[in-house]
Amino acid sequence: MKNISLLGSTGSIGQSTLGIVEKFPDRFKVVALAAGNNIDLLERQVRRFKPAVVAVSGEASAAALKKRLHDLPVSVFSGIEGMVRVAAADGADITVSAIVGTAGLVPTMAAIRAGKAIALANKEVLVTAGELVMAECRGRGTSLLPVDSEHSAIFQCLHAGENRDIRKLLLTASGGPFREYSKTDLAKATLAQALRHPNWSMGRKITIDSATLMNKGLEVIEARWLFGLPPERIKVLVHPQSIVHSMVEYCDGAVVAQLGMPDMKGPIAYALSYPERLEGVSPSLDIARVGTLTFEEPDLDRFPCLAYAFDALKAGGSMPAVLSAANEVAVRHFLEERIGYNDIARVIRKTMDAHAPSPVTTVEDALKADLWARQEAERIIEDRLG
Ligand SMILES: NC(=O)c1ccc[n+]([C@@H]2O[C@H](COP(=O)([O-])OP(=O)(O)OC[C@H]3O[C@@H](n4cnc5c(N)ncnc54)[C@H](OP(=O)(O)O)[C@@H]3O)[C@@H](O)[C@H]2O)c1
Repeated sequence: MKNISLLGSTGSIGQSTLGIVEKFPDRFKVVALAAGNNIDLLERQVRRFKPAVVAVSGEASAAALKKRLHDLPVSVFSGIEGMVRVAAADGADITVSAIVGTAGLVPTMAAIRAGKAIALANKEVLVTAGELVMAECRGRGTSLLPVDSEHSAIFQCLHAGENRDIRKLLLTASGGPFREYSKTDLAKATLAQALRHPNWSMGRKITIDSATLMNKGLEVIEARWLFGLPPERIKVLVHPQSIVHSMVEYCDGAVVAQLGMPDMKGPIAYALSYPERLEGVSPSLDIARVGTLTFEEPDLDRFPCLAYAFDALKAGGSMPAVLSAANEVAVRHFLEERIGYNDIARVIRKTMDAHAPSPVTTVEDALKADLWARQEAERIIEDRLG
């Protein structure tokens, strides 16, 4: 029996994680849950899974939730302190990090420091402070298990060889809903179109990131830290069928790939049960029915966000944190229909151009860069709209 603390329980990854717990009640138990402000869903989750500790981001939400849960023996907390309590909850063996954005950084660090194994969905954590997070894991002997399907695929492919024999990592990308759009079409792309992902059902922010290919850029940075390879040995390939989840090329020319249906339950369950595999987690892949698997180079001219992520990695220090924070701000404004699709890339580029990267040696350094970038991106958007 593994005890789970789940950060981001009301989100897409959070709900899929609880689906796995429900399917394997002899294997997993939920001891702590945290969410943003969706207390209706969180209340149902608490009644169903009976955690000892829960947290929500707002104080008012926490007060309302506490009232609703007065009949249950559960402690309710709020804010960053609440997230940290859940992340490091007594009795938890593994913490699932599935809050979206930089908000997940401090709780994830707290879980690592408390000696919990981490199932990491939140890629922004490694983009913002990858070097620090990996050093903390090494220092504490904590395992960091990837939940992102591409990184889970690479992790699985790495069982086929030695790390010293890796030539490169091949990260696949579906190409998103705009793969075949011309630049003229992209300039007119709407929010509704951007939210219609061809293969995956996910939260709103990552769905937009998939439409700009920033998601793949963030994943390149995530892979850089998770697997310790320089950016020139991480290659992105557009693979519209989303069947090959990623590949590793070894020094002898062998390429090892992991395939499966596009379904996040597979990588989540693998992170939770590693090194075991659980029976019947994902639907079986009928590869003859899929028939054709195709691969193409990404078009950095139409999708500049991917190039910006490589630029940020090259610049190093605080630049990836700035890239990620500017992206969060721009995507939020796009989701609110205040800026257009092409503005997302423009805001990120301008924010990066205004930043002189500095070293990130503490979490506070990363958060300072994050805050600076948020303010700068907001200013750029205000100027544009004003
Ligand atoms: N969805 C996928 O298939 C997928 C795949 C790979 C990686 N990921 C990564 O996993 C993470 C989560 O993605 P998602 O798609 O599950 O996102 P999502 O559906 O938007 O869910 C986000 C979760 O984070 C919570 N949250 C947001 N802001 C918070 C804050 N300030 N404090 C505490 N909780 C907060 C939300 O709570 P409320 O809703 O209650 O406000 C919700 O539970 C992202 O980093 C994403 O890149 C997702």
